[in-house]
Amino acid sequence: MTPILFQQSVLAWFDDHGRRDLPWQKNLSAYRVWVSEIMLQQTQVSTVIPYYQQFTQRFPTIFDLAKAPIDEVLHYWTGLGYYARARNLHKTAQYLVSDLEGEFPSCVSDLIELPGVGRSTAGAISAIAFKQKAAILDGNVKRVLSRFSAIGGWPGKTTVLKKLWSVAEAYTPSERVADYTQAMMDLGATICTRSAPKCLVCPIMSDCEAYKQDKVSDYPGRKPKKNIPIKTTCFLVIHNSDGDILLERNPPSGIWGGLWVFPQCESLKEIDDACQEIGLKVKKIVPQPASRHTFSHFHLDYLPVRIILDYGNQQAIKSGNQIWYNAQDSISLGMPAPIKAIIEGGLKPCNNQFLEDTLNV
Ligand code: ADE
Repeated sequence: MTPILFQQSVLAWFDDHGRRDLPWQKNLSAYRVWVSEIMLQQTQVSTVIPYYQQFTQRFPTIFDLAKAPIDEVLHYWTGLGYYARARNLHKTAQYLVSDLEGEFPSCVSDLIELPGVGRSTAGAISAIAFKQKAAILDGNVKRVLSRFSAIGGWPGKTTVLKKLWSVAEAYTPSERVADYTQAMMDLGATICTRSAPKCLVCPIMSDCEAYKQDKVSDYPGRKPKKNIPIKTTCFLVIHNSDGDILLERNPPSGIWGGLWVFPQCESLKEIDDACQEIGLKVKKIVPQPASRHTFSHFHLDYLPVRIILDYGNQQAIKSGNQIWYNAQDSISLGMPAPIKAIIEGGLKPCNNQFLEDTLNV
């Protein structure tokens, strides 16, 4: 199939079946497209939609985002994961406002310089927001093209990726590039799905190599399986007598960077020392059921431990990176989903007196 025919087929399908009511398709601006594309990295459309709506309502322009405190930006990201994306958005907004009067670059080579913007995201912003001819290759498009051209192997491998980019570039049109870009994503999301693809209604089925060979499910090649390590930690859930919970802010980089978490230690044996370091004396510890949170490269098995403090010695120091958090105050802090879940549901907030009474300490 020639590139022209490919583009015509995809665009004709888009005219009838493409998605047009996604929130980032309304009031189109480079800022709104950029926020959506960053949120959509590694995250499904249905998950992104409510986050996107709340985020853009609170930060409607790049200027609003640039002047917001990072804690509030992270708060709006709570639960979405990959928090470096939020820190990069904030940093980039501040840079664009201070150095480029809030204007976005429009070409791929400039966009790709922005933190958190890779080649595919740069292509999507350039094509959708600026209507410039630019190729994209996100997960959906990798699947469509690897099947269409029967490109074997895992797309994470450099050699496979190179072939896919070359096909992506070859098929990208100069006209209607924004529609084409959206069409390719929609095709991957709704027709050329990972399992049970709807080949019979696919606009490019007649020339799809994988379909012709009856090998659609062989593409794209799978990621080689590797066992990821397990790390363990204790979350120290410490309430003061007002029912507030002690949280600490993680350093800005690394896992859960800049987010507010419980104080932690590696084992139950270290709890006394860890609390002493914070300035608190432990009376009793009450372990709760353990859970697992899986990151891309390791599992984190965590044991929430309710700490019952020795009265008379329960006011931890309040440094800039420590806070007695009151869930009812609804102050805007970024928290990882498991921490939020423990605060909101897993362990009902109560003060030490209540705990001591109920547990007969
Ligand atoms: N995935 C990445 N970008 C997208 C977009 N603009 N629409 C739908 N899904 C996407």
